[in-house]
Parts: sequence; C-alpha cells; structure tokens
Amino acid sequence: MAKLEILEFPDPRLRTKAVPVTAFDADLERLAADMLETMYAAPGIGLAATQVNVHRQLLVLDVSETRNEPHVLVNPRIVHAEGHQVYQEGCLSVPGIFADVERAGTIRVRAQGVDGQFFEQDAEGLLAVCIQHEMDHLIGKLFVDYLSPLKREIVRRRLEKARRQAEPQAVA
Ligand code: NI
Repeated sequence: MAKLEILEFPDPRLRTKAVPVTAFDADLERLAADMLETMYAAPGIGLAATQVNVHRQLLVLDVSETRNEPHVLVNPRIVHAEGHQVYQEGCLSVPGIFADVERAGTIRVRAQGVDGQFFEQDAEGLLAVCIQHEMDHLIGKLFVDYLSPLKREIVRRRLEKARRQAEPQAVA
C-alpha cells in the first residue's frame, strides 16, 4: 500500500468530473486500499478519488469512532433523500477550514463494491453528510462552494498564506 498525495483547494484538478468505474480489477482494489491508508493517515473520515487526482467514481470513508469500519463506494448514486441537516464540515483538500453546510438528513445510496457487486445503503447523520460531501468531490464540487463568494475568497487567501509560511525561506 502507498500513501497518496492529496490535492488542495484551489487546485483546478479538484474541479474534474469523475467518470464511472468500469474495470473491477486488482488496480481498483489497490487504489481503494491506498485511498483508505491515505485517509486514515491524514487523518480524515472520507476521501474521494478526485482528491488524489484519480478521476473515477470511487470514494472511501470511515465515520466510526474506532476507525475500523471502512466503506468503499464505487459509482455511488443517491436514490432517495429526505429532510435536512446542518453539519460543520471540513475537508482534507481545504485544510484547517470548517463551515456549516446544509445537506439531506437521510439518504439511500446505491453503489458497487470493489468486486462490482451492487448494494444499497441507508445513511443518516454524519455518515449521510460524509457520503454527500465525497460524492460532491466526484462532480468537481467542494464544500466551500456552499459559502458566499466573499467567504470563499477569504478561505483561498488564508490557505495561500498558510502555504507560503510553510515554504522554506531564504533569509540573507
Ligand atoms: Ni472533502
């Protein structure tokens, strides 16, 4: 397994729309395993393939406290959504930024496993939030897109500044 590099906002590659997975092979299994390793190491509760610059419809997540309930969703579709909830979200591609986002309260998602088998899963609460957040990544959408343009610009500047400060500086 290998840890993958996570793209960060405003990297334009995060805006790529993922295509459906058609090959359920060893490469897909390896990618899912690498994404889980990357997500756990970050640490985060979810990761979409888009975030590691692979533009296929695949996401991994684990919202359990014990961090031992990994889920892999391939080609996910929301087939039912109901109600509303507001959750303070963050994102591995937008480090250090948190904001309230309103999403569906309960969802039913139809997806495939890495073996290609179809399944349906009901989700509510944090799991429902996480699935919707990761599915947004697959269509090139970020949680900061739900903020006003002004707030999004503040986020962009704050991240730019943080990255500048992290770079080694030559002081003569
Ligand atoms: Ni995210």
